[in-house]
Amino acid sequence: MAHQFGIHSGYFHPVLRKWQQSDTGITPANLMYPIFISYDPDAEEEIGSMPGVKRWGVNKIAGHLKPLVASGLQSILIFGVADDSTKDEAGSVADNPNKSPVIPAIKLIRQTFPDLLIACDICLCTWTTHGHCGIITGESQGIDVEKSAERLAEIAVNFAKAGCHVVAPSDMMDGRILAIKKGLKTANLLTKVSVLSYSAKFSSCLYGPFRDAAKSAAKFGNREAYQLPVGSAGLAEKAVDRDVQEGADMLMVKPGIYYLDVIRNVKQKHPSYPLFAYQVSGEYSSIILGAKNGLFGLEAAIIESMTCFRRAGTDVVISYFTPKILDMIKSGE
Ligand code: PBG
Ligand code: ZN
Repeated sequence: MAHQFGIHSGYFHPVLRKWQQSDTGITPANLMYPIFISYDPDAEEEIGSMPGVKRWGVNKIAGHLKPLVASGLQSILIFGVADDSTKDEAGSVADNPNKSPVIPAIKLIRQTFPDLLIACDICLCTWTTHGHCGIITGESQGIDVEKSAERLAEIAVNFAKAGCHVVAPSDMMDGRILAIKKGLKTANLLTKVSVLSYSAKFSSCLYGPFRDAAKSAAKFGNREAYQLPVGSAGLAEKAVDRDVQEGADMLMVKPGIYYLDVIRNVKQKHPSYPLFAYQVSGEYSSIILGAKNGLFGLEAAIIESMTCFRRAGTDVVISYFTPKILDMIKSGE
């Protein structure tokens, strides 16, 4: 301590407390809302592992988004959910204009809410029979990184052509940001579409509820050969640097709260890049279930998590709590 008089004199008044945490405010611009679009156009399905979150059909999604946009919603992140019978090895349903739920959803949302920023998750796991995030090669049953990057770029370009503003590859393959950027250039979309890279994505148990929601669990093996080992700060730094060099416009750390040190490191090393943190399904559901069981207040837990993301250096939190937070902002809490 600098002197002998203690620290309490710095924060006894609410205004003084605000001055001590000037960078931790939450506005609608600090939030991105993930939504699941079902292959069933009329779906409005509860997800058992994520209380309060639904899979929406394309015919229902505008009705869900309308009040949120009125409350200030600024950006969404779309995940497609495929029917098992349409899946194959290459995930061709993803961008099949007649079968993909994502393409009509992009078009409809863009038309209905012209000011809403539309981001799309780009991966193969929701679309493939094997459930892995890349293309699996014959004998070794390992990932073919180059083929995966090419296929991911194809999907990204097709979603971009359908009208999304941001493509967000979540697979973690080497070379996919570069392949996507080149694809966007060839399609003449380089200046109209941003790439938000899931740049430091760890191999986390906290994705469990999501894999149920998106029906995207791997049918064999696991994702440890492409997602980062949870204790690896060095690999996280390399992965982020790789994506910066390949041309990413925005960066992400995922999951969120367990990885605040990584968030801080990425923000310090790349201060000119907007930094996203994904408060993943396991974080969401833990908070919901903890509050339901009386362990803490729901709103208090949400605010604390958001404040800490901001304190660590996060610009935008991708959160399933977005509708609830927009309500809280509106009512001045
Ligand atoms: C798919 C993907 C996952 C998430 C986002 N995109 C799961 C995974 O890697 O298995 C997790 C999101 C969440 O848990 O909320 N590549
Ligand atoms: Zn995936």
